[in-house]
Amino acid sequence: MADPFQDVDAAGEEFIAAFADSMDARQSDPKMESIVASYLSKLKFAEGSLTVEVGAGAGAVTRRIAAKAEPEQVMAFEPSSGFVREARERAKQHTNVTFEVADGTALPLDDHSVCNLIMHTVLTHVVDPVPLLQEARRVLKSDGCLVVCDADFSKASLSNSANDPLDACARAFVNEFVTDPHIVAKMRSLMTATDFEVTDFDVQSRTVADNEQMLPWVEETAKRMLERGEIGEELFCGLVAEYKRRAAAGTLYGHQVFATAIAKLS
Ligand SMILES: C[S@@+](CC[C@H](N)C(=O)[O-])C[C@H]1O[C@@H](n2cnc3c(N)ncnc32)[C@H](O)[C@@H]1O
Repeated sequence: MADPFQDVDAAGEEFIAAFADSMDARQSDPKMESIVASYLSKLKFAEGSLTVEVGAGAGAVTRRIAAKAEPEQVMAFEPSSGFVREARERAKQHTNVTFEVADGTALPLDDHSVCNLIMHTVLTHVVDPVPLLQEARRVLKSDGCLVVCDADFSKASLSNSANDPLDACARAFVNEFVTDPHIVAKMRSLMTATDFEVTDFDVQSRTVADNEQMLPWVEETAKRMLERGEIGEELFCGLVAEYKRRAAAGTLYGHQVFATAIAKLS
C-alpha cells in the first residue's frame, strides 16, 4: 500500500484528524523539542527575513518556527488542504505565520527571496527528493540556509527481544507509512548533488516510551493487518494491549534515529 503521506487528502478526514494530533504529540516529546530547538538555534532571523517551511503538515513544527522567528515572517506550504485547514486552526495565536496549499516542487515564491527553508520529516515521504531540493535552491537567497530534518526509518524498532511480536508494528509502519526509509543515508549526497554545501550534520536517537508517542501508529498498523486478514481480532487486541502494558510498566522501548542536515548554497 502506498505511503498515505504522499497524498494526505486522499487518505481521508479520519486520517487527517488522527495524524494532525499525532504529529502534535511527536513535537511535544522532549527529544523532538530538543532536535527542533537545536536546528532553530543555528538559524538567523534577521529583521525583514522570511523563513519558509515546506511540507508543514498540521503545523506542529511551524508553530515552533513562528515562535522563534517572531516578529519576522514565516510562510508554511503543505500540499494537503486538510492539513492546511488544521494548521490554520491550531496556529491562531501566531500572527507572523501563514499557511498555503502548495507542493514543495512548485512554491509560489520569487527566486532568491527566502532566508531559511525547513523540511521536517518530508523527504522520507516523497518518491524523488531532488525536485524539492532544487526548488529550495531556487527560492533561497545566496546566503540562505536549508534545514532538512528526517527520520532514519531503516533503523526504527519496537523490539525488546529477538522475534519480538510487537516489532511487527514497527516494520509495518515503515512499509506502509514511509516512502524511503533510507533517506538519511542519502541526505548529504543528495544535497551536494543539488548544489548545496552541508555545513552541519547531526544524528540523534529518540526513545519512544509512552502511550502518546506511538500508540496511534500501533493501532493503525495492527488495524491494517486485521483488515487484510493477516491477523485476527485477538492478535490485533493483543498487540495494542502489549504496547499499553509495556508503556504502563515502563518497559516500552521504541527506537528511532533522526538526522538534521544544515546547508548553504555552494
Ligand atoms: C510526516 S508529515 C510531517 C509534517 C510536519 N513537517 C511535521 O513534522 O509535523 C509529512 C508531510 O510531508 C508532506 N508532503 C508529502 N509530499 C510532499 C511534497 N511533494 N511537497 C511538500 N510536502 C509534501 C505531507 O503532505 C505531510 O504533511
